[in-house]
Amino acid sequence: TRKIIIDTDPGQDDAIAILLALASPEIDVLGITAVAGNVPLPLTERNTRVVCELAGRADMPVYAGCEAPLSRPLITAEHVHGGTGLDGPVMTEPAMTLRPEHGVDFIIETLRAKPSKTVTLCPLGPLTNIAKAMQQAPDITERIQEIVLMGGAYFEVGNITPAAEFNIFVDPEAADIVLRSGVPITMMPLDVTHKALATKPRIEAFRALGTTLGTTVAEWLDFFERFDTQKYGTDGAPLHDPCVIAYLIAPQLFEGRHVNVTVETGSELTLGMTVVDFWRITERAANATFMQNIDADGFFAFLTERLATLPHT
Ligand code: BDR
Ligand code: CA
Repeated sequence: TRKIIIDTDPGQDDAIAILLALASPEIDVLGITAVAGNVPLPLTERNTRVVCELAGRADMPVYAGCEAPLSRPLITAEHVHGGTGLDGPVMTEPAMTLRPEHGVDFIIETLRAKPSKTVTLCPLGPLTNIAKAMQQAPDITERIQEIVLMGGAYFEVGNITPAAEFNIFVDPEAADIVLRSGVPITMMPLDVTHKALATKPRIEAFRALGTTLGTTVAEWLDFFERFDTQKYGTDGAPLHDPCVIAYLIAPQLFEGRHVNVTVETGSELTLGMTVVDFWRITERAANATFMQNIDADGFFAFLTERLATLPHT
């Protein structure tokens, strides 16, 4: 099994990514750290606990990490995810409690405690917690097996500004630290996720599972869908974050290139833009596998199959 730490800002798509990980025997989730992003930290950590309980995993260690980006005020995305971050179905308050330790300390201690290069980090939100951990404990960087993250865009440019994807835009300094860290990185940018659309028939397949979990996922997607379909005129909303988890188990669903990716941290106009040397025009060394394509039917079939295996409530 592959050991991972999920770092997240739920978010309906983060929630589905967490469910996919918890439904996958190939993956051992060591803990989940929440970060401020789609909504403020008190909501992202609460939502993480809601999702763990929904999956029947109240035993999962959940930690709160950073409440704001490294050096900027937090920008949130209630316009996409709703006021709670998990708008759609009515969810009961979680009974499971948050672990007292800071999320960044959990990341550092776990990487130090496990054999080197056996823990993969899966960031699904702004990269604040990951960069903070690298700053506080530079020794952990070379112990990370891989970072598989959702963020960035190249041909698809931006979703929060014309030039930038939300996760990178919220904390571009953190993204810069991570991209320069030397850790093997796999990125799921908008180029991939804008091809993973939760269309009506795909949403109905979740509902047809006939479980509370299946209905909840369908209702999250019904909510999540409204913003993107109205704004971009697509057939459904991109299901961003589950691509990260799907890649760990079924990498053959994705296709990309190992290239240089640099993030803009200065310009006001293009702040948070990921500049991808996709055509290898420069001498800049490759630092990330930047994904471009997904087998979307295969991905949704896989996700639906896996979610069917979670405990029925
Ligand atoms: C990313 O931003 C958030 O709104 C989603 O959860 C995803 O991680 C997409 O740009
Ligand atoms: Ca997210």
